[in-house]
Amino acid sequence: MKPKFSSLFSVFFFAMTIVYGQNKNSPKFDVKKQLEYCAVQASKTLKVIPEDGTSPRTVPNGSKEWKFVGYKDWTSGFWPGELWYLYEASGDKKWEKEADKFTRFLTPLSVSKAADHDLGFQVFNSFGNGYRLTKNAAYKDIILKTADTLATLFNPKVGTIQSWPHNKYGGHNTIIDNMMNLELLFWASKNGGSKKLYDIAVKHAEKTMNNHFRSDYSSYHVVIYDYETGKKIKGITAQGYSDESMWARGQAWAIYGFTMVYRETKDQKFLDFAHKLARVYLDRLTTEDLIPYWDFNAPDIPNAPRDASAAAIVSSALIELSSYTKDKNLKNEYLSKSKKMIISLSDNYQSREVNSAFLLHATGHKPAGSEIDCSINYADYYYLEALLRLQKLK
Ligand code: GLY
Repeated sequence: MKPKFSSLFSVFFFAMTIVYGQNKNSPKFDVKKQLEYCAVQASKTLKVIPEDGTSPRTVPNGSKEWKFVGYKDWTSGFWPGELWYLYEASGDKKWEKEADKFTRFLTPLSVSKAADHDLGFQVFNSFGNGYRLTKNAAYKDIILKTADTLATLFNPKVGTIQSWPHNKYGGHNTIIDNMMNLELLFWASKNGGSKKLYDIAVKHAEKTMNNHFRSDYSSYHVVIYDYETGKKIKGITAQGYSDESMWARGQAWAIYGFTMVYRETKDQKFLDFAHKLARVYLDRLTTEDLIPYWDFNAPDIPNAPRDASAAAIVSSALIELSSYTKDKNLKNEYLSKSKKMIISLSDNYQSREVNSAFLLHATGHKPAGSEIDCSINYADYYYLEALLRLQKLK
């Protein structure tokens, strides 16, 4: 089907606003300059990483020093993923060499027992991006093995992956973040892996769609199911303010996750659902700069910490969601709000001289008192992804 002239026009108009600025009075937003900034910061980080197989995860508020983690950490795929994106952005072999090195540190994940659902974040952001850019057959082998490992956490009686086998909630738990890791299963099923992986991913997405959301389409963080009957027991939070609050990053994972599931399945119900998830997020976003508080129901708003990582995830997801959107006004809304988020992050949230991450003001686990208002590698990863997606629109 030919694209309508009106939608072609809106994409052209949007691209022009990126090149020439939003209007005569606003300075031009230069995506390339932001990508170069990320490369400068990452070069500084490379100089301080110990030669022990670890990678940078977080810089605490007030510190300049990265905290490093081993391959088992749930965030271990983001740093190699950033390096692959920098290679993609520049074509500079220096980044490919570093990306390959940090990616390979994660190899044991493909042959170990599955600890939790995070295998997708870990292996698809590292080996997945690496394979996409290099077609290295060794990477593919590791991705396929890891997809089979992740699938061992699927409980057919429930119809979802058990996200945190180590957590004893008195039932089978699934967290909204787990939606992101279905991408690994979809990819494997289409690239030589078992077709069952596709079915598992679809079942997980369907069950999540039907059980993980309140009537206003805001997401629970964790849903507990009965192991045997598969019936939902309750929805609760782990990292949000309360069981009934809207944790910003949880909603961000949901928007990104269901948009990706539509890409992989082309099933309209997932696209319709992604729009609803984006709607509640955008309608409830009260901050002028579109960077959310860490939880939309935090009691100390407007003094609550922000979460730049949620903004980075949503800004990237909205660019993809806009590409599946025929409604001209909605498409423009997604693109203009995504761009505003990316500009806010670039203008007011960059770490610059504070530390060598890309961004400040992310919040990891507020209820546990950990990683509050700090730099975190997944904020950087999705910020870089959003910049690349924005650049590709041109
Ligand atoms: N997946 C864990 C988090 O979003 O903090």
